[in-house]
Amino acid sequence: MATVLILGATSDIGQAIAVKFAKKGYDLQLAARNINDISALRSDCSIRYGVSCTVHPFDATATDSHEPFYASLPVTPDITVLVFGYMDENELVTRDSKKLMNTINVNYTGAVSVLNIISRDYIRRNKGVIAAISSVAGERGRAANYIYGSAKAGLTAYLSGLRNEAFSHHVHVATILPGFVYTRMTENMKLSPLLTATPDLVADAVFRAVTKKKDIIYVKWFWKWIMFIIRSIPEFMFKKMKI
Ligand SMILES: NC(=O)c1ccc[n+]([C@@H]2O[C@H](COP(=O)([O-])OP(=O)(O)OC[C@H]3O[C@@H](n4cnc5c(N)ncnc54)[C@H](OP(=O)(O)O)[C@@H]3O)[C@@H](O)[C@H]2O)c1
Repeated sequence: MATVLILGATSDIGQAIAVKFAKKGYDLQLAARNINDISALRSDCSIRYGVSCTVHPFDATATDSHEPFYASLPVTPDITVLVFGYMDENELVTRDSKKLMNTINVNYTGAVSVLNIISRDYIRRNKGVIAAISSVAGERGRAANYIYGSAKAGLTAYLSGLRNEAFSHHVHVATILPGFVYTRMTENMKLSPLLTATPDLVADAVFRAVTKKKDIIYVKWFWKWIMFIIRSIPEFMFKKMKI
């Protein structure tokens, strides 16, 4: 069976993705900053679903470690799912240079650094699938979250270019746009149930994107149209709006 590498496996969405793939019989490589935080997930997946499951320390911001990290994996993963991310309140981020740089370094620089290494290998092998969680926040800069949004915009553009390059090498690249999701990241936000997905729904979308080779998936379909409308508002009007 194929092996799936999950980068950011401690996240609520990452755990749901791990369980989804394990249930379908895929072997797992779980990567996270603190591997103690994924030991329960590891036992759960291997005992309950009988798949091989290994854990690997990984820090998105330690870009010098990305090459040795990938080289140290016991087998080359057939599928890589990038889940890690960092979001804090925009107002705090604009006032705190550490949070500012972490937002850019985790969501953009760290993601591009590790995916560049993995995609070079997949392109050389002429096979492999990469799925990454970006965000609808990257589709238009809004006062409420434009630092995070601009880093995710960079990631979305990177994935688009990589998909374009990788296609002729039989490597598939999927962009997952979840809209709001009930997770640790959004626990202090008041979210509309209609607009908000569960981690399990995101995991289903990732599985579909990987197995059906989808390019871009909005987890709740109407986010595509919400963002179409938001992108269509002329800038002279948009700058006066609080959305
Ligand atoms: N929740 C939403 O509404 C929403 C919407 C759109 C997109 N997303 C995206 O979905 C993804 C998963 O987020 P989530 O909602 O499941 O939130 P979460 O539970 O807070 O997960 C964030 C994950 O990122 C990891 N991470 C942060 N900094 C890292 C670093 N330097 N190196 C490695 N890992 C790091 C965290 O690891 P630790 O456990 O070590 O902190 C955690 O596993 C993120 O990319 C997020 O931007 C979320």
